[in-house]
Amino acid sequence: MKDEITRDERIDNLKGMGCSRKRVEDARFTQGKGNYVDDVKLDGMLFGDFVRSPYAHARITNIDSAAALEVPGVLAVLTAKDLEPLGLHWMPTLAGDKQMVLADGKVLFQGQEVAFVVAEDRYAAADGIEAVEVDYEELPVIVDPFESLKSDVILREDTVDENGRPTDGAHGPRNHPNHIFTWEAGDKAPTEEVLANAEIVAEESMYYHRTHPCPLETCGCVASMDKVNGKLTLWGTFQAPHAIRTIVSLISGIEEHNIRVISPDIGGGFGNKVGAYPGYVCSVVASIVTGKPVKWIEDRMDNLMTTAFARDYWMKGKISATKEGKITGLHCHVTADHGGFDACADPTKFPAGFMNICTGSYDIPTAYLAVDGVYTNKAPGGVSYRCSFRVTEAVYFIERMIEVLAIKLNMDAAELRRINFIKKEQFPYKAALGWEYDSGDYHTAWDKALKTVDYEGLRAEQAQRVEDFKAGKTRKLMGIGLSFFTEIVGAGPVKNCDILGLGMFDSCEIRIHPTGSAIARLGTISQGQGHATTFAQILASEIGLPADSITIEEGDTDTAPYGLGTYGSRSTPVAGAATAMAGRKIRAKAQMIAAYLLEVHDNDVEFDVDRFVVKGAPERFKTMKEVAFAAYNQAIPGIEPGLEAVSYYDPPNMTYPFGAYVCVMDIDVDTGVPDIRRFYALDDCGTRINPMIIEGQVHGGLTEALAVALGQEIAYDDMGNCKTGTLMDFFLPTAWEVPNYETDYTVTPSPHHPIGAKGVGESPHVGGVPCFSNAVQDAFRAFGNTHTNMPHDHWRIWKTANELGLHD
Ligand code: CDP
Repeated sequence: MKDEITRDERIDNLKGMGCSRKRVEDARFTQGKGNYVDDVKLDGMLFGDFVRSPYAHARITNIDSAAALEVPGVLAVLTAKDLEPLGLHWMPTLAGDKQMVLADGKVLFQGQEVAFVVAEDRYAAADGIEAVEVDYEELPVIVDPFESLKSDVILREDTVDENGRPTDGAHGPRNHPNHIFTWEAGDKAPTEEVLANAEIVAEESMYYHRTHPCPLETCGCVASMDKVNGKLTLWGTFQAPHAIRTIVSLISGIEEHNIRVISPDIGGGFGNKVGAYPGYVCSVVASIVTGKPVKWIEDRMDNLMTTAFARDYWMKGKISATKEGKITGLHCHVTADHGGFDACADPTKFPAGFMNICTGSYDIPTAYLAVDGVYTNKAPGGVSYRCSFRVTEAVYFIERMIEVLAIKLNMDAAELRRINFIKKEQFPYKAALGWEYDSGDYHTAWDKALKTVDYEGLRAEQAQRVEDFKAGKTRKLMGIGLSFFTEIVGAGPVKNCDILGLGMFDSCEIRIHPTGSAIARLGTISQGQGHATTFAQILASEIGLPADSITIEEGDTDTAPYGLGTYGSRSTPVAGAATAMAGRKIRAKAQMIAAYLLEVHDNDVEFDVDRFVVKGAPERFKTMKEVAFAAYNQAIPGIEPGLEAVSYYDPPNMTYPFGAYVCVMDIDVDTGVPDIRRFYALDDCGTRINPMIIEGQVHGGLTEALAVALGQEIAYDDMGNCKTGTLMDFFLPTAWEVPNYETDYTVTPSPHHPIGAKGVGESPHVGGVPCFSNAVQDAFRAFGNTHTNMPHDHWRIWKTANELGLHD
C-alpha cells in the first residue's frame, strides 16, 4: 500500500507529545457549560450550612436549637451530641491527628464548625444559623506558636493524660501539651561542628507567613444516600476522589463498593481540596438522616477562614562557607504553626512534607533540619499551596539564605549560586538531607537566564541607580531578584509515600474501541491543568491514534482505576507515566495482532508513528486503526479479543524539575509601590508534552507567587480574629498587578520516567516567591538591608525604606 501523506504529516495528525494542542476543555468552559459541584441539582435536594464560632478559643456550655427548628424551611440541626453516638463527632486528619467535625465542648479557632443546620434551601439555612443560640465561655487565646510552647493553657485536652502531660502523637513523643511533633533530617552533630569551625557563617530568621490557596471555586459537596439500594453518591470538589471514598468508608462504616465519589469540574484546587472537611461528614450524615440529597457549599469567608491554610513556617537558618564562597554546611530549624488541629496534607512519613529539600540546588555536604509542629488558636490545614509538600517553604528558605550569605561574603549572589550548584555530572545526586535528585543541568539553565536578561548590564544600571538616588536625582530604587529552584514532584514511590496508608501510585486504564478511537481513565483529577488535552497527547504518541480520537476521563470512582489524585504536580510524573505504560501494553498486544494480519513473526514488525511496519518492507503495514478493528473482528489464535490495558504505576523516584528566574523591579521608596519591569522564567520540566499548557501553568504559578510575595496573607489579631477573611482584605492579583512574563526552557529529561517528563504545575510558584521577594530585598541591599519578611505589601516596603532612613 502507498502512503498518501508524509511521515511528518502523520505525526502532525496525531497531535501528540511536543505539540501545542489547544485545550479541549475550553469549549465548554468558555461557553459556561462547565459542570461544577454547585451545578449538581437533585430532586428534593436540601442545603446544609454551619453555625460557626465567633471566638478563637472558648468552652461551649450550651447549644439551643429550638428557635432554629421553628424557622420555616429548617429541618434539622446537628451538633456534636448527635454525631457522637455514630462516632462521627471527630474525624481523622491526613496528618494522623484528629479533628472535631462539630465543636465537642470547646472551639479552637474562629469560624470553627459548631452546628450544622439542614434546610430546604440556602436562605432558610442562613436564617436557621442565626436562630441557633450558643453559649460560649471565652478562654485565653494563643496565636503565637512560640508563646504556645511556653503557655500553661492546654489547647487540646484530648492530647494530654489525666495529669495534663502530653501523650505521644502520630509522629512520636511530644514535649509540651501544645507541641505536635519534632521531625528531624540529616546529621545534627557533624553539621554543628562544620558551622562551629567555618570561615564564614551567615544566620537569618524568616517567617513564611500564613496564606491560603483561595481557589475561585470554594469547597463543597452534595451527598445523596439512596436508602433503597444502600448506595451513597458523593459529588465534591475533591483533588483525591478515591482517597475520599476510602476515608468515607472507614469513618462511616459504609462498605466501599456502596460509595461512589464524583469530582466533576473543579475550579482550581492548589491544595485546598485535598483534605476532608466537616462539611463532607455533616452532609453525608444529614443525607442519611433525612433520606434526601444534601448540598454544602462554602462561601468565600468560610473558605478563607476555615479550610486549609498554607505555610505559617518560622524558619531559622545558619549557612557556612569558605571565604571564597563554597558552602560547607546548612542548619535549619522550623517552628510550624498548625492551628487547632494538625490537618496537614503530607505523606505519612513526612510531617513537614519535603521540607528536607531545603539544601536546594546546591552541593552542600552537611546539613541538618528539625521541625517542631505546634498547636495554636488558628484554623487547621497546612496544605501545599501550589507546591509539592512544603517545597515552597524549603526553596524560599535556601534562596534567602543564599542572598544573606552573599551579603556576608560581599559577593554577587548569581556567582555564589553558580559556584555552589550541583554539577551536571553529579546526577543522580544524593543530597545531604536524603533525597536523590534524578537529573539536572543547572549551570546551562543559569547561564542562559543571566545572558538573556543581560545580568551584568542590569547590575551596572542598578549601581548607577543607587548613585542617582544618593545624589537626589531619583526616588526609585532598582531590585534584581534571582532565584534558582529545584522542585521535588511526583509522590511518590509507594515505599516512601502514603497517605493514611494508601500508597501513592497512580493509574490509567485504556479501552480502544473497534473503530480506532479510545477512552482512557485515570486516578487523577484535573482542576484546570488541562489533563484531557495532555494525557491524550501522551497516548497519541504511544499508541498512534490521534489525540482528537481519545477521550480522557477522571474523577468518577465507579469507573476510574484507583489513584491518589492530583496535587503536588504528581499527575504527569505518576499518572502520566501510568498512561505511557498502559499505552505500551496496548502497543505490545497490537503488535502481535498486526504481525498476525501481516503474516509475519511479531519480531518482524516495528511501530512507526501510527502503524506497524514489516521491517525492511515499509510498504507492508497495518495502521493502529486497522489493528483496533481486527482486535474485535478477527479470531486470532492465542490472543484474546479486545484491546484494553491498565497500568498501576509506582514511580521508582520523584522527578526534580528546576528553573532559573530573574525579576527586575523598580520600587518607589515614598509610596512603597513596586513596579515589576521584567520577569524572566526558565523552566526545565524534562520532556515537554504541551508547550502552550506549560506556559499557561507558568503564568498561573507566577501570578500566585506574586500574590504571596507581595501581599497575600491570612492574618490574625491577638484575640484570634481572622483579619483577612474576605477578598477586600486578602490580596488576589488582577491583570492590573500582573506583569508580562517572559518564559523560556531547557530540557533535561527524567531518566526514570517512561517519557522523561517531570511535573511543572507548581514549579513557577516555588521559584517565583523567592524571586519576587529577593527583588524587593535586593533593591535595599545597598542601603544595609539583609532580610525583611513577606508579604512585601506597599506598607511593609515603605516601612523598610523608613527603617533604613531613606525618608530622612
Ligand atoms: O499534577 P498537576 O496536573 O497539577 O501538575 P503537572 O503534572 O505538572 O501538570 C500540569 C499540566 O502541565 C498538565 O496538563 C500536564 O500534562 C502539563 N505538562 C506538560 O505538558 N509537560 C510536562 N513535562 C509536565 C506537565
